[in-house]
Amino acid sequence: MDKIVILDFGSQTTQLIGRRIRDMGVYTEILPGDAPLNRETLAETRGIILSGSPESVYENGVAPDKAVYECGLPLLGICYGLQRMNYDQGGAVEPLPRREYGRIGVTITGDDAPGVGAENSTAGGANATAARRFLEGFPLNKGMRRFTAWMSHGDTLTRLAPGFRPYGISDTGYPAVLIHGERPWFGLQFHPEVTHCEGGTGILRAFVFAVCGAEAGWTMERYVQELRASLAARVGDNPVLLLISGGVDSTVAGALLLAALPPDQVHLMYMDTGLMRKDETTAVRAALEKLGARHLHIVYCGEEFLAALQGLAEPEAKRKAIGDLFITIQEREVRALGLPDSYFLAQGTLYTDLIESGKGVGKKAHLIKSHHNVGSPLVDAKRRAGRILEPLDRLYKDEVRRLGALLGVDGEVLRRHPFPGPGLAVRILGEVTAEKCDILRDADAIFIEELKNRRSAETGNRLYDDIWQAFAVLLPIRSVGVAGDVRKYGWVLALRAITSADGMTADVYPFPTTDLLEISTRITNAVKDIGRVTYDISSKPPATIEWE
Ligand code: XMP
Repeated sequence: MDKIVILDFGSQTTQLIGRRIRDMGVYTEILPGDAPLNRETLAETRGIILSGSPESVYENGVAPDKAVYECGLPLLGICYGLQRMNYDQGGAVEPLPRREYGRIGVTITGDDAPGVGAENSTAGGANATAARRFLEGFPLNKGMRRFTAWMSHGDTLTRLAPGFRPYGISDTGYPAVLIHGERPWFGLQFHPEVTHCEGGTGILRAFVFAVCGAEAGWTMERYVQELRASLAARVGDNPVLLLISGGVDSTVAGALLLAALPPDQVHLMYMDTGLMRKDETTAVRAALEKLGARHLHIVYCGEEFLAALQGLAEPEAKRKAIGDLFITIQEREVRALGLPDSYFLAQGTLYTDLIESGKGVGKKAHLIKSHHNVGSPLVDAKRRAGRILEPLDRLYKDEVRRLGALLGVDGEVLRRHPFPGPGLAVRILGEVTAEKCDILRDADAIFIEELKNRRSAETGNRLYDDIWQAFAVLLPIRSVGVAGDVRKYGWVLALRAITSADGMTADVYPFPTTDLLEISTRITNAVKDIGRVTYDISSKPPATIEWE
């Protein structure tokens, strides 16, 4: 099957390049920027993309294997990738007086740019036909020569390497599109993979199809087939243990393991911390059994968690107590399973989880809230032993949903809103008690049920599906009200509903007032301990999605 290799020099958007191209139906493989390139790594490769990087070519920036310039394949350098090609071929790259970031206009020059020597002239050359095909992919409708690109760079090309020709210039006057006259080498100073880049997908498409001549042979079906084969080969007949949270990712990872391996080899462990949503454990069990789970270990440890949370009101103290206990119980229960040391530990980690926890490429994320999902001593030990399986770690959420659908995971599970590891504990402000968990569970279940039963007048979708995440929060405040003729002193509940692309930023969902009023009435009627309902109208930033 045809593929495009992407050399990753550490840009935050490298995965996005791969994803855009996979969406076109062409398989992509991301290799470290300095990976050796040989017959094996380049088998079936139709082109190579050199990614961006937070580094500079003249400082700590990693160089690719020289073979990249000798293999004869079409190359596309993006940002640092372009600077790298230019630098490696004898051009110069220097810092900009001021970093450029965001939307910037690019004008395609085509004709010979002024001040360019004969060897950098755009006329003729062995690569002229490919250059024309490449440029046909640019968003130059109705004879326009300018479009809006998206940039993020601190360096620029200050002298072109021999053979490179300028085909586009940014509004700020820097080279933005370079094509080699003789060799199939292309370079963009901007990021076509970022959605803010006008026509970016068309540009990538032109490279992949018109320049590289790749054929679209990549589908989710194929991915499943390949994952099946590689998982089976790696695991052999050793048991695999998957820690399940009940969310989309771990459920799809479970479905994949059950599809790839004999079900008897697959052990699924789920911890009911007592901090789950209403009927969650029952739903998780049903979903996994439907997927063919034979060894489903459900650990009921609600009492231990409540005991650990007793007297704790400060958010980080609560998170830490939960994280520590999670690890303790996990180790204890895994030991109790008595699996041989050779077992593999699987996790439903996605690429975005790695970025968010600062473990992936790019800058280390600031700790805003401690997440306990990614690492634990058990996971670390298995990782050291080379026995971790993360079959989804190159996929984005929407790809995981597609994969899940293909594997027969229930649509309702796949559309499920995200749920934080510490569960209701971060939605019960202040101290957590069993009673408060029950109150919040009931109120939250009504809210979610209402969102599934109501449709948006604008989109026609269920409100639940238009909202990225919704939940109720129990505030540590009581307020006075009346129920019948009696004075009532009930808890205050906040509803939260947001739209978002990835949870990194969020907007408040603009409910029609009637929906909010009716939902509020239903909650206060049905959950007797709740006396008042409010709606949280804070976006992220400055607020976070969860309240703690
Ligand atoms: P915040 O509150 O940081 O949440 O804006 C962003 C997204 O992350 C979820 N979240 C967590 N998920 N473990 C998780 O698995 C956690 O500890 C955790 N804390 C927050 C939150 O629900 C939202 O989707």
